[in-house]
Amino acid sequence: MMVLENGPSCDFPEYNARTAEVWDRLADWWDDEIGDGNPFQDLLIEPATERLLALQPGERVLDIACGAGRFARRMAALGAEVVAIDQSKAFIRRATQRNADGTREIDYRTIDATDSAALLSLGEAVFDAAVCTMALMDMASIDPLISTLPRLLKPGGRFVFSVTHPAFNSGTARKIAEENDRDGSLKTTYGVAITDYASPYVHMGVGVPGQPAPQPFFHRSISMLFNVCFQHGFVLNGIEEPALPEGTESSTPLAWANLPSIPPVLVARMANP
Ligand SMILES: C[S@@+](CC[C@H](N)C(=O)[O-])C[C@H]1O[C@@H](n2cnc3c(N)ncnc32)[C@H](O)[C@@H]1O
Repeated sequence: MMVLENGPSCDFPEYNARTAEVWDRLADWWDDEIGDGNPFQDLLIEPATERLLALQPGERVLDIACGAGRFARRMAALGAEVVAIDQSKAFIRRATQRNADGTREIDYRTIDATDSAALLSLGEAVFDAAVCTMALMDMASIDPLISTLPRLLKPGGRFVFSVTHPAFNSGTARKIAEENDRDGSLKTTYGVAITDYASPYVHMGVGVPGQPAPQPFFHRSISMLFNVCFQHGFVLNGIEEPALPEGTESSTPLAWANLPSIPPVLVARMANP
C-alpha cells in the first residue's frame, strides 16, 4: 500500500498520465468481469443514480468517465440522448463494440475529463444533465471538470455523481470483525476502521478483486468533494448513502453485505443554478 500526502489541493495532476495508462490496461478485464452488472451496480449505484437523475425522455445527458458504457446504455434505453466520454481509448472501444448492434445510439468520445478545453468542445449550455458514476475518486484532478460543468449544462441542469463513500470505503479504510460474548452467546460484529480521512491522498488499490493491476484512488473527504462543487456555483439538492441489503450474496465474511448499516457508496445531486 502506498499512501502519499498532498497539500491543501485535492487534485493530483501529476498522476493523470499514469491513471490513463492503468485504465487502458484494465478496460477489457474490467468489462469482461463486471460489464454485465454486479451487486454494487445493480443494487446500489444504478438505482440511486436513476432516482436522483430522474431522467425525462428526450433529455440530453453527458456521461463522464463512462467506462464501457453500461450506464450510458441504460440512460439511452430510458429515452435520453447520450454523449459519453472517457479518457481511456480501450474503454471507448469496448463501449462502441457493445453498441455495435445499433439498437441504442450513443455518441462516444475519447476525452480527458481533466482537460477543460476538450470538455468545452462538446458545446456550451447543451446538456440537461451530467452524470459520473463511480469515477471522481479515480480522477487525478476534479477541479477542471467541476469548474467547466456549469458551462456545459443548461441553466438549472443537474450533475449526479456516485463515489466510493469517502468516510467508509476509501483508501486506507479497513474492514474489521470482532467477536464478543453478548448475554452468553458469541456474536460477531462487522465494521470499518478509519485512520486517514481529513487530508487528501493517493492510494494504489483494487476496485474489483482479481484485477490485473492496482489503480490509483484519489481520496477526498466529503467536504473537499462538495466544496469543489459549491465553489463553482453548484447547490447540493439530493443525496443517498445506499448500503447492500442484509442477505446479499457475499464471497467473504468481510464483504459489504455483512455491513448492512454502513454505506459503501455515496450518490449526490448538484444543481446548476
Ligand atoms: C471505475 S470506472 C467507472 C466506469 C463507469 N462510469 C461505471 O460506472 O462503470 C472509472 C473510469 O474513470 C475513467 N477515468 C479516469 N480518469 C479519467 C479522466 N481524467 N477522464 C475521463 N475518464 C477518466 C477510467 O478510464 C474508467 O473508465
